[in-house]
Amino acid sequence: MTQSSEVAVVTRLAELAAIGRHSAGISRPLATAQERAARELFATWARADGYALTQDRVGNLFARRAGTFEDAAPILVGSHLDTVQTGGPYDGAYGVVGALCALALLDSRRAATAHPVEAVAWVGEEGSRFPFGCLGSSVFAGLMDVDAALALVDDAGTSLRAALAAPDGGLLREVTSRVGTRAAAYLELHIEQGPLLERAGIPLGVVTAIVAQRRYQVIIEGTSGHAGTVPMDQRRDALCAASELILVLEAVAKSAGDSVVTVGRIAVEPNGTNVIPARVTFSIDARSPDERRIDAIEQAFQATSLDVQRQRGVRVTMERLESRAAVPMDPILRQALCRAVESLGEHPLEIPSGAGHDAMCLASIAPSAMLLVPSIGGRSHVADERTADADLKLGVAALAASILEVDRSLHAK
Ligand code: GLV
Ligand code: MN
Ligand code: MN
Repeated sequence: MTQSSEVAVVTRLAELAAIGRHSAGISRPLATAQERAARELFATWARADGYALTQDRVGNLFARRAGTFEDAAPILVGSHLDTVQTGGPYDGAYGVVGALCALALLDSRRAATAHPVEAVAWVGEEGSRFPFGCLGSSVFAGLMDVDAALALVDDAGTSLRAALAAPDGGLLREVTSRVGTRAAAYLELHIEQGPLLERAGIPLGVVTAIVAQRRYQVIIEGTSGHAGTVPMDQRRDALCAASELILVLEAVAKSAGDSVVTVGRIAVEPNGTNVIPARVTFSIDARSPDERRIDAIEQAFQATSLDVQRQRGVRVTMERLESRAAVPMDPILRQALCRAVESLGEHPLEIPSGAGHDAMCLASIAPSAMLLVPSIGGRSHVADERTADADLKLGVAALAASILEVDRSLHAK
């Protein structure tokens, strides 16, 4: 790396942000040409920085900095390169680029670690093409079978297996296969994606826990017909039924407290101005620190579905696609991260994360912890997602210090 590691995080993120940029944001869904180009860039940087690169069967990439004890399980440090369809430049990308820059910062200081340290680019965290979030980290952690992951299909009917075999979105060529899934610990650096750090005027956060999250698909089947001739009292309009259910979800989430529900994806068929909707498919994303609140939302939805089916003559089916319990971060690692932040003269804000992260999956196989930097206006999953350059740089310094603290605390065990 020719420039300082803290400066490199800003310039590399700008380079990465050009991949998949369009008028409404940045789009790099898993196994597309754009997402593959981002993995290729990570590989180019990792090789240029002198790290050994490996790749597993779903495309997760690992750039390894040697440890004093090469047989020790590695400390993994990573995040994701894929985006939502209208994403910003930092969600995920910051944690991946920041991990490489933190390794380079350790190199520049000739700081040895007992454990090898690997910067990791997890694939498919957003679930924006294949219907499953945190795909790469779930497979790595053994929470999802690799063949089940490869069998997932996108809206066009393309399987992940086929997409990863294609030249424009597939696995990188000539990268050594990754063997083994051991991890001594996992660290993830991320933008906050919410307003708490900015409001508190504090530049570094340490995550206490990641909230519970469920994803569902709902299908409503009604009856199509002519928009001008079918009387209102004889309709079985799938979109009117969906609208009623979506507003119930909003009301239930508000009254349950401490929970959020989002319907962010909807498809209407046949989708014609003068045709009564026959079928509607929509997503539900429900989150809360307390999983029982999500249970209550699910039950309320099911009870209302029965009423809507009866009153409107439609059929409602709901399928749970993904369910993740709340994940507390490891207390020893959290302390190590707080010490690292304090070593830079800052006091960390300890906060929960409403956003999901690969750390949720890694926590099932290794002690895991997360560092956050502020998001300007608390905005994320949008094109104008921003974090001040000074905070991006400080986050890398905090991550490098955290790696050393965690390495020491693991070694002291
Ligand atoms: C990922 O960004 C998520 O929280 O859904
Ligand atoms: Mn995201
Ligand atoms: Mn993310």
